[in-house]
Amino acid sequence: MADLRIQPSQGLHGEITLPGDKSISHRSVLLSAIAEGDTHISGFLTGEDTQNTAKAMQALGIEIEGLGTDSLVVHGKGLDGLAEPSSVLDLGNSGTGMRLLAGLLAGQDFFSVLTGDRFLRKRPMARIVEPLRRMGAKIDGRSGGKLAPLAIRGGGKNLCSLQYDSPVASAQVKSAVLLAGLYAEGETRVSEPSKSRDHTERMLRFFGVEVSEQGNAVTVRGRRPLRAKVPLEIPSDISSAAFFMVAASVVPGSDLLIRNVGVNPTRTGIVDILLSMGADIMLQNLREQAGEPTADVRVRHRKLHGVQIGGDMIPRAIDEIPVLAVAASYAEGKTIIRDAAELRVKESDRIATMAAELRKMGAIVDEFPDGMELMGGDGLTGAVCDSHGDHRIAMSVAVAGLAAKNETIIRDTEWIDTSFPGFERLLRQAAYA
Ligand code: S3P
Repeated sequence: MADLRIQPSQGLHGEITLPGDKSISHRSVLLSAIAEGDTHISGFLTGEDTQNTAKAMQALGIEIEGLGTDSLVVHGKGLDGLAEPSSVLDLGNSGTGMRLLAGLLAGQDFFSVLTGDRFLRKRPMARIVEPLRRMGAKIDGRSGGKLAPLAIRGGGKNLCSLQYDSPVASAQVKSAVLLAGLYAEGETRVSEPSKSRDHTERMLRFFGVEVSEQGNAVTVRGRRPLRAKVPLEIPSDISSAAFFMVAASVVPGSDLLIRNVGVNPTRTGIVDILLSMGADIMLQNLREQAGEPTADVRVRHRKLHGVQIGGDMIPRAIDEIPVLAVAASYAEGKTIIRDAAELRVKESDRIATMAAELRKMGAIVDEFPDGMELMGGDGLTGAVCDSHGDHRIAMSVAVAGLAAKNETIIRDTEWIDTSFPGFERLLRQAAYA
């Protein structure tokens, strides 16, 4: 049980490069495995979540070189090249790994079982099971298929295309249905109430599959080959950069450059929200790699003020709301976050866990079913806090500790390795240099 001890920082400085994007890393191994030819991937996230997805693809008969490093070579076997796994596939803590893989397995003509750790086995799976069953996959699981483990007998050649109106804005749901749709004859279409991250769509295009978009709906045509062509370079994760953006914004004296960050517009809610709070953030050297926009992000300290966050902005910042709550605690005035009920079904109930930890540090927080209200003001004071088994809660509290009075101790921080190996080292490098 690893403790992380955070002392107040006098300012974050220098240049840092962070690990690869988690969402893109998951997709890179899933899609390169079913592409024809070899894909050279760089910037692959070595965190536990994405390693588990890569190991699952190996268990499905895909040869992957370089596992455990950030440079992989995936020997794709084409759309119909996966083989029945001889054992259960364990996705650990990762909702993305389990839900996207379930979509891919729904298209196979074999049997497979997906499981995860005690946190993942509590997270809702009906949201993918229901549409995948409608496409013809046979899926069972605990509570009638609402919870993992999930047992999947894929629809194979009999899988049907689907026109699906998703009730939630979720890239995991959208991607699961689109990945299954790759195996169905005809067009599969997914619409959602707000646009969620579009990495699957971009990567499908990277592999030569046509994807069309109409507002918040996406359509793919099934049974089209994916083709490996050029190296796939994964930028750093903006969700990891978010901890440093908030830290540099709230710790006086900071001036930090974060290199090579993915700035896909479906993910840049954190930048837009911090700017609306008065932050000093600049995107420099904008470019594109593997169909994803990338930039260097410069952040300097500036006093923030409270804002209201809700609506279409929420899916663009869903993983960053915990650390935005930290920003709000150091801002002047009130911040209100609404329309974010999805936070309650993440790695922890992030409304409850973030409110609990910030209160220990002296924050004034009210919870709503779909968000929270935070009153900024006198800053926070170090306390003994808990990760609740959630990597982003652990890292958010660490950021809160950098600008707090006295020391902050965070318990059970080993969860950070699911998404951000090397977090502590990079934080110390930037915050205490
Ligand atoms: C992800 C989608 C989001 C996000 C998660 C990664 C993805 O989840 O919270 O960390 O890679 O597709 P939902 O699709 O459940 O909103």
